[in-house]
Amino acid sequence: MRAQITPRPFLKWAGGKTQLIEELVRRMPLQFENYHEPFIGGGALFFKLYRENKIRRATISDLNAELIDTYIAIRDHVADVIGTLAEFPHRAEFFYRLRAQAPAELDLVHRAARMIYLNKTGYNGLYRVNRRGQFNVPFGSYKSPQYCDEVNLHAVARALQNVAIVCAPFDQIVERAAPGDWVYFDPPYAPLSATSNFTAYHATGFGFADQIKLRDVCVALDARAVRVMISNSSAESIRALYAVAPFRIEQVLANRAINSNGKGRGKLVELIITNYA
Ligand SMILES: C[S@@+](CC[C@H](N)C(=O)[O-])C[C@H]1O[C@@H](n2cnc3c(N)ncnc32)[C@H](O)[C@@H]1O
Repeated sequence: MRAQITPRPFLKWAGGKTQLIEELVRRMPLQFENYHEPFIGGGALFFKLYRENKIRRATISDLNAELIDTYIAIRDHVADVIGTLAEFPHRAEFFYRLRAQAPAELDLVHRAARMIYLNKTGYNGLYRVNRRGQFNVPFGSYKSPQYCDEVNLHAVARALQNVAIVCAPFDQIVERAAPGDWVYFDPPYAPLSATSNFTAYHATGFGFADQIKLRDVCVALDARAVRVMISNSSAESIRALYAVAPFRIEQVLANRAINSNGKGRGKLVELIITNYA
């Protein structure tokens, strides 16, 4: 047992799995080789499994390059990331100046520090980009946000030491996962109705064609003896997609922290789908 209670997610991430986590852990396979999480986001399940000493080797990936660079910077240069954050003041004027900088023009450490600072001091901890891929969340009204949590960042760096961190679309998992591995997919959820369309994680969005592709990737992984677990909304379209062998669909109740309009927090039925019992 580790005495440390850290690491914990170091970003607030829309669709973060903190609320569903016990239900997910309850459904993990008893044994597996490598762990893969191709929609890592804030990494709530990854950090939980690490804290409980349940993973040996892991690969985490996401399509969001700034997010992936932030994980890499923390893994490889945590002291520099902390040193940079420590010099950032909590001021609106500084926030907007940093926000205006193009991440591609910054070095890896500053790109990561920018991401963490904007995430922790921006409105509601949202990550949102406009059509040109520019971060456009306004300054938040936090009194003293913890954007330089040194203890947790060091713990996160330790957790990431032997982890492969990749910027890639989810379907590349087919090339990486081997028999005996376990993959947890937490895609942008299918909207429950045409009006609740919260898919702005990435400039390209995630449409129903992607949901179909994800199901097909899971079928391909099943054929190679890879175990999969998928979380998604309880949209009829998703139930229909997975109403085929080898999938099992279970309904769970989740307390959603951020939803389409930032109001209406409450319990929602969500689905956890596996290809094993
Ligand atoms: C629901 S969030 C994951 C939340 C995460 N489980 C957590 O605890 O914070 C979905 C993630 O999928 C990523 N994403 C969107 N489209 C993708 C794609 N085609 N391939 C890989 N990742 C994608 C987004 O950048 C986002 O981080």
